Amino acid sequence: MNYHPTAKLAIRIALVGALAYSFWLPYSFFGVLPLFTFSNDYAAAEDAKAAERRGSAPAAVKILDDDIVGDGKIFASAEELAEARKDWVWCGFCHYTAADAPHRIGPNLNSIIGRRVGSKTKYFYTVSFREAAAAGKVWSEESIDAFLANPTQLYPGNRMRYAPVTDPEKRKRILKYLKAFS
Ligand code: HEC
Repeated sequence: MNYHPTAKLAIRIALVGALAYSFWLPYSFFGVLPLFTFSNDYAAAEDAKAAERRGSAPAAVKILDDDIVGDGKIFASAEELAEARKDWVWCGFCHYTAADAPHRIGPNLNSIIGRRVGSKTKYFYTVSFREAAAAGKVWSEESIDAFLANPTQLYPGNRMRYAPVTDPEKRKRILKYLKAFS
């Protein structure tokens, strides 16, 4: 079939557009950037501090429920731990927490509480996190709580695609999960 040259051009433009759009979608939905890594100026110093905080405990330990559930421990009950695991499902889609685990769409979150913002090695952070790192910002329980309550507000322009966690109890459980497993 013979198409008019203008129609051919229009079809080509539409195809290229559709292809470009399909590449952009994973970025727009999930912040996926598959090909980038970034050597981080702060990672080595922060790794050393994290090791100091951990003391003599090895970086990769198997965490048993008995260690984290019970009187005076992180979770008051097995039910609370089960809730926290459910709350974590989406975070876990983008973040591993074990020391020896790689990055996913988001950086590995091992020992993130007390760590400088945007300071994991071989992870390509957005400018917003790199500026926070240069300014010496540190993740505390309070700042992670504020970040989760409104991910676009604390460090505007960051790439974490996650809806605000509006329930404060849920944020508390997520923080407990981080304390227990990272
Ligand atoms: C769709 C993927 C995705 C989901 C879901 C997600 N994150 Fe993220 N997260 C990211 C990305 C990407 C970054 C890095 C952002 C940047 O560089 O701008 C990030 C960064 C972070 C950081 C800062 C890390 C650092 O090294 O400074 C924390 C803390 C964090 N996320 C916690 C969470 C928690 C808790 C949840 C669940 C409530 C969650 N994230 C859900 C993708 C995600």
